[in-house]
Amino acid sequence: MLVTSKEILNDALKNKYAVGAFNVENLEMVIAVMEAADEKKSPVIMQVSPKTVKYSGLDFSYACIKTAAERVKIPVACYLDHGTDFNIAVQAFRAGFTSIMIDGSKLDYEKNISLTKSVVDVCHANNIPVEGELGKVLGKIGDPDEINYTDPDEAVEFVKRTGVDFLAVSIGTAHGIYKGVPKLNYELLSRIHEKINIPLVMHGTSGVPDEAVKKCISLGICKLNYATDLRIAFTDGIKKHLAEHPREYDPKKYGQAGIQSVKDYVKSRIDISGSANIF
Ligand code: G3H
Ligand code: ZN
Repeated sequence: MLVTSKEILNDALKNKYAVGAFNVENLEMVIAVMEAADEKKSPVIMQVSPKTVKYSGLDFSYACIKTAAERVKIPVACYLDHGTDFNIAVQAFRAGFTSIMIDGSKLDYEKNISLTKSVVDVCHANNIPVEGELGKVLGKIGDPDEINYTDPDEAVEFVKRTGVDFLAVSIGTAHGIYKGVPKLNYELLSRIHEKINIPLVMHGTSGVPDEAVKKCISLGICKLNYATDLRIAFTDGIKKHLAEHPREYDPKKYGQAGIQSVKDYVKSRIDISGSANIF
């Protein structure tokens, strides 16, 4: 069932668990996430990044996710991830997306507020919840010296002035593959959570150790974003299949191996997030 993420994440906040938000980049990943969440009886968020929008189009991504959502009873949200500007945000909700992230974290504070608020105004008028980002979650490696951590007082003002429904926080995670073990600032996360009573979002969750993820959930993280590990799972599944069946040329056969590999990974993440059997 296709829903907005508002219901999904507010319930997670109230009952202290988190929901996986999985970036789906092709049909096989959509099928894998849908089957994993359905078998685990877990709500789920399927996300599409602007790079995937360039690859397959908003309409195609939405059609796949909507079709998958309608096949199952669990709540499924269709979410624009890291929306870069006002136009893509509006195009996404017009295409049918049920949740929007606008990422103004590269901008200075006031410009981030003004971009985020402009998206919130138009999305809320259409009952679509919005995620903003304050501080900056780094790309790739995550050198702790370069992290622009979220300031708790600025976060309070940011939420108040923009009206965002969910906030992505920078507490030491990074996108991509970590070099070493990420060092998360739990004390900072706890201070943000004490001041802001909305679901908080962790970006760059691929590669964060399970115990660290669980601790962050206990400190207010309600949405866990995964992209890199799904790509790895998909590609590894296919590579293994082709190594075992070198003469295979049917994409449905090796595609199924990719689906199974992503599905196993997503199920393991649902177990860590505490959202299994919620629905
Ligand atoms: O917005 C997407 C995520 O933050 C994914 O990060 O690729 O490190 O899992 P990741
Ligand atoms: Zn992210």
